[in-house]
Amino acid sequence: MKCSLIIIALILGSVIISSCKKSEEVTSEEVKIAETQLHTPTNGLAVAMKKASIKMRRLAKAVENNDWDGMDVWTHELKEGIGFNCVELYMIENNDIPNEFTILCNKFNSAINKLMLSGKKHDANNTSLEFNNLVKSCESCHESFNKDAETKLDFTD
Ligand code: HEC
Repeated sequence: MKCSLIIIALILGSVIISSCKKSEEVTSEEVKIAETQLHTPTNGLAVAMKKASIKMRRLAKAVENNDWDGMDVWTHELKEGIGFNCVELYMIENNDIPNEFTILCNKFNSAINKLMLSGKKHDANNTSLEFNNLVKSCESCHESFNKDAETKLDFTD
């Protein structure tokens, strides 16, 4: 009886230890993946863009629902995610920055600013207009710098 209890305790112990090890491995693996995505110079812009398209989807919903607080959150997120960074991220990857890219990035920023402003005024008509202009500013940069994009941007789901 005693002996079988000890055996059970040993089995339980080893199961617990091995599952702990496994979860440690997974988390450090996940951290590694996240780090390479964040710091590898070859895909920094692409990662920022992927995040931007998720934020745009949320912003589109906020615009649709006249959710002014949501608009405030997602416009700021987008500005921080690509507005402030896209020139630098592009430069890291290409060792050069064409004038046109800077201009298109500024256009994106001014579209975001206008959308923020009409959101602050709770101006529903102007807000959907400025949102469309923002989408256009994404697209006009892609026309010049992301030509091989397969799908057109679509934020309605
Ligand atoms: C100033 C230029 C510029 C603006 C503005 C811009 N993009 Fe991009 N975008 C790019 C470039 C360049 C790439 C290609 C990046 C790469 O693959 O290295 C890209 C790629 C993408 C991709 C594909 C990422 C991938 O590889 O999976 C998505 C999605 C995307 N952009 C969404 C957006 C959205 C949404 C906006 C507007 C909110 C936007 N972009 C605004 C330049 C821009």
